[in-house]
Amino acid sequence: MDWGMKNRLSRLMPNGKCFFMPIDHGYFQGPTRGLEKPGETIKPLLPYVDAIFCTRGVLRSAIDPISSKPIVLRVSGCTSMVGKDLANEELTTSIEEIIRLNAAAVGLSVFIGSDYEKETLKNLATLVNACEGYGIPVMAITAVGREMDKREARYLALSCRIAAELGAKVVKTYWCEEHFDKVVNSCPVPVIMAGGPKCETELEVLEFVHDGIKKGAVGINLGRNVWQSPHPVAMAKALRAIVHDNLSVKQAHEIFKKTKENKPT
Ligand code: 5RP
Repeated sequence: MDWGMKNRLSRLMPNGKCFFMPIDHGYFQGPTRGLEKPGETIKPLLPYVDAIFCTRGVLRSAIDPISSKPIVLRVSGCTSMVGKDLANEELTTSIEEIIRLNAAAVGLSVFIGSDYEKETLKNLATLVNACEGYGIPVMAITAVGREMDKREARYLALSCRIAAELGAKVVKTYWCEEHFDKVVNSCPVPVIMAGGPKCETELEVLEFVHDGIKKGAVGINLGRNVWQSPHPVAMAKALRAIVHDNLSVKQAHEIFKKTKENKPT
């Protein structure tokens, strides 16, 4: 692996672990609760996350270019919640633009098993071809569209493996209750967990993240369960402690409770 690729990956994953903060939701669902002003949402969370995941639109309009926080640029899109099929995505951003914006990595969704499986996998291959020459890692996202019931190990393992085979340097997928270790172990590149819709309780989030890390995921890309929480900073601190400091669910929950109550942790 060349120096540039290694350097970007190590900035994104210090000690091989990562906490990415996605604020890209508007790219297909428009205004999103908690992201009305993405720059303000993200500001207090920055000390706890390793990278921000966003589109070029939000990057240019809401993120201070003086910031040294690595950016994972969302480079697929062109569909919407109200359109015919969320899976019908295209690549949105040229390699020149990716370099101009100094992205540390790029991310795109692949919709395996959908009517647009081939097109979205072709997007991945095309993006890898464009990015490899410049040492820019590609994160493939095994998206499920509206079909949340696809979040089971067999489907996720298949999707992650295919994405890695096509050249993704990291794969983002959903955690699942059963056999998540098989998803991770059958994928030759690091696996990062996505969040999904907001859970009922903070404890539930800490539990699934802890389980996924224990089973081999290198980190998380969790948005709504952090910034839609009434206590986003407390959530970010607790999650960071699980991902980077190997804390137990109980210890992380203590951090959450103390931070929420403004007590020292
Ligand atoms: C959608 C994405 C988003 O970045 C991701 O799902 C957002 O995170 P969360 O679900 O935790 O709000 O890639 O495909």
